[in-house]
Amino acid sequence: MEILIKNAKSLLQVDRGDTPMICGKDMSSIPSIQDAFLLLRDGIIIDYGKMEDCPESQGTIIDARGKLVMPAFCDSHTHLVYAGSREKEYVDKIRGLSYEEIARRGGGINNSAKLLRNTSEEDLYKQAMDRIKEIISLGTGAVEIKSGYGLDVESEIKMLRVIRRIKETSPITIRATFLGAHSVPLEYRGRQSVYVDMVINEMLPQVAEEGLADFVDVFCDRGFFTTNETDRILKAAANYGLRSKIHANELDFSGGIQVGVKNNALSVDHLEFTGEEEIRVLKNSGTMPTLLPGAAFFLGMDWPPARKMIDAGLPLALASDFNPGSSPSGDMKLIMSLACIKLRMIPQEALNAVSLNSAYAMGLEKELGSIDRGKKANIVITKEVPGLEYLPYAYGTKLIDKVILNGEMGNYEL
Ligand code: NIG
Ligand code: FE
Repeated sequence: MEILIKNAKSLLQVDRGDTPMICGKDMSSIPSIQDAFLLLRDGIIIDYGKMEDCPESQGTIIDARGKLVMPAFCDSHTHLVYAGSREKEYVDKIRGLSYEEIARRGGGINNSAKLLRNTSEEDLYKQAMDRIKEIISLGTGAVEIKSGYGLDVESEIKMLRVIRRIKETSPITIRATFLGAHSVPLEYRGRQSVYVDMVINEMLPQVAEEGLADFVDVFCDRGFFTTNETDRILKAAANYGLRSKIHANELDFSGGIQVGVKNNALSVDHLEFTGEEEIRVLKNSGTMPTLLPGAAFFLGMDWPPARKMIDAGLPLALASDFNPGSSPSGDMKLIMSLACIKLRMIPQEALNAVSLNSAYAMGLEKELGSIDRGKKANIVITKEVPGLEYLPYAYGTKLIDKVILNGEMGNYEL
């Protein structure tokens, strides 16, 4: 199976070689080739360059005149396996209740847990696959999905099995994360440490034995799990070879960034509360700071200090946080727009953050996130646009024309 894309107005994010992530001021540029070709064969990027060097091909030819060609988006943080929806809480929030207040009343994550426990594995899979098809049509080629709406052994395993089935049946690249410590379930209220013991002694061993997770996550924040509990869970997971990606500093200066970096987390995510000390800890750590502007937007919360972080030389990844409570959208182009408008990132910084840096935050930077020979052929072709800046600028317009995953052009239109 061969595809030759010809006459691309611009081929974006090329020649990153072995660079694992883009940091600081380097984030403001995107290496690109104008008037370019891209040759894909058997799921792999074979060659690319200027049109004057374009080879012949007997395969499928795509004319990309006037269009941008770039790596498919990598979305390194989602909770897209969930049951039902939570629009009633959305209205409560509009009326003035806070996210934490809703959680204290037994709503929020525990509301989703109640729904999920009463939903069959088959139904859960169907609901999640609709979301997968939608995000592919919006240009996403790799996605991380978390458990965390089960909150008991059986239901957490059910969620992770659904994620495994999506991996087996969808062309999108998937990474699975075990998030048993997402919230204390209602039946354990007042007995949080007993629940943490169960996460460590019952859930983790079974998840590891069935090989159901690539990573572990903890919601380390005010009103959820403490830094000590987080430390215990991350250490236990490390014994099973699981690296962590944690929810940190969404609601307060929780110490989550520090405990994540100390445990060599692959990423720390949210980071609305990030100060000088947190920036210092993150510097040269190998932990990818990941911002989720969809959640701050939807909950009307503080914006993370992206500008300060980039100016201090940090890399940044962006992800959708697709979930029913704080960000019911997996549209990565919209995430780029929010990053540009509300975090004051320029479009080039936003593109680095949704491609190579987000691939790094899933441990996939050697396979995905840039146009390099030998990388997986997960490619997006846009509609005719003036240039990269137009993508986040036209924030409500669908500008993804074609999506190629594993070197194949599926019918991903919804
Ligand atoms: O990333 N912050 C914790 N977890 C999710 C929200 C989950 C929910 O409300 O259902 C988040 O925002
Ligand atoms: Fe999240």
